[in-house]
Amino acid sequence: FADGNPNSKIMIIGEAPGSNEDEQGYPFEGRAGKLLDKMLLSINLDRRNVYITNVVNYKPPENRKPTEQEIERYFPFLIKHIEIINPKILILLGSTALNTIVENKEVISKARGKWLSKKIGSCSTSVIASFHPAFLIRQQEQKKMSWIDLKMIRKKIFELKIKIEK
Ligand code: URA
Repeated sequence: FADGNPNSKIMIIGEAPGSNEDEQGYPFEGRAGKLLDKMLLSINLDRRNVYITNVVNYKPPENRKPTEQEIERYFPFLIKHIEIINPKILILLGSTALNTIVENKEVISKARGKWLSKKIGSCSTSVIASFHPAFLIRQQEQKKMSWIDLKMIRKKIFELKIKIEK
């Protein structure tokens, strides 16, 4: 369950696959994926120049949130995955990705829109958390905060001189 360009310096982590993702074998295939594509496009990105995966790489029954145990089981693979991609920018979508990678219990509405320098395994990277697109579909008024975060990401790409392959 990964999509995009493994040579990209921009990595995005979601929560877990749903039914659409399970059928297609790629992350973010459903409605949330369509919105993610729009969000990326708004800062001139698309799936050819980012790399996308999830905290948990199997579909939890009934689309529920992954449990602590499920997250723990996939954690070593997630860290290895980050080490292999070695992104300069790591975007965490939603509280599952935030709480797993930053290892805190903060709520996304407080933690979003801030850059953190983090060492994850052997990878030193700039991390930012933002709202999950599935949440934004339910809470449209939060899209303005999401746009602030997207602009921060756009600025960081420029500052770090990350080359965007078209
Ligand atoms: N699709 C994914 O791949 N991940 C999510 O977190 C949500 C939808």
